[in-house]
Amino acid sequence: MFTLPHLKPIKTYKSIALLTSGGDSPGMNPAIRGIVRTALNSGIENVYGVRHGYSGLIGGDIHKLTSRSVTNIVQRGGTMLKSARCLEFKVPQVRAKAAAILKEKGIEALIVIGGDGSMTGAHLFTEETGLPVIGLPGTIDNDIPGSDDTIGFDTAVNTALGAIDRIRDTALSHESLFLVEVMGRNSGFIATQVGIACGAELVVVPEYEFDLHDLCVTLAKQRANRLGSSGIIVIAEGKDPGLTSRIAYQLEELGQEPKICILGHIQRGGSPSGHDRMLASCLGASAVQYLLAGYNDIMVGVQQGAIIDIPLRKVITDNKTLDQNIFAITTLLHK
Ligand code: ADP
Ligand code: F6P
Repeated sequence: MFTLPHLKPIKTYKSIALLTSGGDSPGMNPAIRGIVRTALNSGIENVYGVRHGYSGLIGGDIHKLTSRSVTNIVQRGGTMLKSARCLEFKVPQVRAKAAAILKEKGIEALIVIGGDGSMTGAHLFTEETGLPVIGLPGTIDNDIPGSDDTIGFDTAVNTALGAIDRIRDTALSHESLFLVEVMGRNSGFIATQVGIACGAELVVVPEYEFDLHDLCVTLAKQRANRLGSSGIIVIAEGKDPGLTSRIAYQLEELGQEPKICILGHIQRGGSPSGHDRMLASCLGASAVQYLLAGYNDIMVGVQQGAIIDIPLRKVITDNKTLDQNIFAITTLLHK
């Protein structure tokens, strides 16, 4: 359960819009439902869904949503509004055009669900155009400053765990070594949580440096001393493409026969977990309440179980760091 803020409505809006942007994440649909239903139940007459993220904003791909439009989506992965990466939105004149399109339709505020890039676009948009914007953290990577959790992270971790548990069965049967690459862009939140929860023999993340050769020698020695055991190494994709292949190559040089499994986009799909449905629903409802309470240029996130607001400027300038003590757990659980 989350603690929700006590917010007093002081503003009225007739029409608002929402969009999903960047990499989709499981839970975006319950967030959309939370926003649409809360808005309509709080006296906002018109709620518009912008399709295909910021591209749809520029192209006027904007459609009215009703309470029924969001029926039966709470359990569905992906985003009913579609998502996109839109490089043009980095240009101020393009953002001004998008604001003009919204104003023309009488739309007075925008809610953006997405990752850190989307939050940057959201902040610049409101700063330059004056149109109120609220952001919600939606990404499997859990790398957004100011929020302990992001919509989709829990589901992605559980999806990766389901896959690795299956890999472990075959790894045990053949006493083999698997290198499993997980997503996370430049961060190791998924890898760390997945690594701890699947009982990985080793976890590699971009935040902490390691000597590739030393690491592989240690691993090869460990395996030589423990004949008959399987091995799962969880590797965050990181900023360094090809790292997993390089680790495999080094291990082969040391006489090992590692198998590579890249989980990839499987982690972005699937039905949102109960946790993500709850998080997304509470964040969606709260986004509307913050808007009606007169807030602007904020992201609504979660800190220590409480739904809170963080200025978007802070979200986009801060860094979210992987807790060293949590990462250390990955090294303390070996046999
Ligand atoms: P995410 O939101 O998941 O981090 P991206 O980093 O790809 O994904 O960002 C999503 C979209 O947000 C981009 O395609 C672009 O439309 C917008 N965006 C990202 N960075 C900026 C920026 N610096 N200025 C304006 N818009 C941005
Ligand atoms: O940000 C979410 C994410 O899935 C990252 O984990 C990954 O690096 C990236 O998006 C992949 O993006 P794309 O689907 O554009 O390849």
